[in-house]
Amino acid sequence: MAISQKVTGFMENSSWIRKMFEEGIRLKKEFGEENVFDLSLGNPVIEPPDEVRKALIESARDESPGLHRYMPNAGFADVRAAIAESLSPECKVVLSANDVVMVCGAAGGLNITLKTLLDPGDEVIIFTPYFVEYLFYADNHGGKAVAVPTLDDFRLDFEALQNALNEKTKAVIINSPNNPTGVVYSRQELQELARVLKAHSDKLGKAVYLISDDPYKKITFDGVEAPNIMEFYQNSIYITSHSKDIALPGERIGFVVVHPQCESAGPLMAGLIFCNRALGFVKVPALIPPVV
Ligand SMILES: Cc1ncc(COP(=O)(O)O)c(C=O)c1O
Repeated sequence: MAISQKVTGFMENSSWIRKMFEEGIRLKKEFGEENVFDLSLGNPVIEPPDEVRKALIESARDESPGLHRYMPNAGFADVRAAIAESLSPECKVVLSANDVVMVCGAAGGLNITLKTLLDPGDEVIIFTPYFVEYLFYADNHGGKAVAVPTLDDFRLDFEALQNALNEKTKAVIINSPNNPTGVVYSRQELQELARVLKAHSDKLGKAVYLISDDPYKKITFDGVEAPNIMEFYQNSIYITSHSKDIALPGERIGFVVVHPQCESAGPLMAGLIFCNRALGFVKVPALIPPVV
C-alpha cells in the first residue's frame, strides 16, 4: 500500500460524508434544487452581502504596490486591531491586536491551535455529536480526541465531562451554536464549564485550555444569546471565521483570539503565528479585508 494505513482507515471511516454530498446532488436532480436541503458540507445557501462584492472589486482594482505580497504571518496589524476592538465588548475583556492571529478559516485556526498546544498522547475532549473533522485535526498533531456524550437534548453532561478529565487532558473543544445539533450553550452552562475546567486545571497545576470553535456565533435567531467563552474562562481560545456568517467559506477568512490573561499567553501567541507558517498556511488570504 503506497499511502499510509492510517489515512486509508480515516478515508474509509469518513467516506459517508462524501457519499451524503453526492446523494444530495442526486436528490436535487431527482426532486429539484428547491426541495432538497443539503447540510452535508455546511455550504451557505445565501450569497455574501453586497459590501463584500464591492470590497472585492475595489481590492482587485487597487494598484498600490505590495497588495498581493506576503504579509506578517499573524496578518495585517490594522486588521487584527480592528477585530480586537470590535470583539472586546462581547468578550468583556480588553483585547489588542497582539491577541489576534488571522488564519485560513476556522479549520486553519483549529489546526494551528492544536499543533501549538499538543504533545504526543495529549487528550482533547470533544462533545458528541461533533464536527467530525475534530478527530482528524487532533490526530494531525499527535493528540487523541476523546468523545464525551451529551444529555438527551445535546446539552453538556458535566458528570460525563468530569469522568473524562484526567492528567492527559490538554484541551476541550466546544462549538456553539453547534454543528450538527444547533444547540447554543447558555451563560449558566458556560459558567459551569469554566468552573469545572478551572478546578481541574488547579488540581493538575497546569492549564486545561478551552477552545471555542464558533463559526456560527453570529447566526442565532429569536433573541437567543450565544455568549463568548472569554467572558468566563481565562485559559480560553476563541476561533471563528466568516465562512458561515457572511457566506464566504471559499475565501478562508478566519481568526484566532487568545485571552490576554491566558496561561502562557505569550508563547501561545508566538506558537500560533509560527504554526501558521509551519503548516504552510503562511498567512490568511490578503484580497478581502475581513468584515467583523
Ligand atoms: C463546527 C465547525 N467548525 C469549523 C468549521 C470549518 O469552518 P471554516 O470554513 O471556517 O474553516 C466548520 C465548517 O463547516 C464547522 O461546522
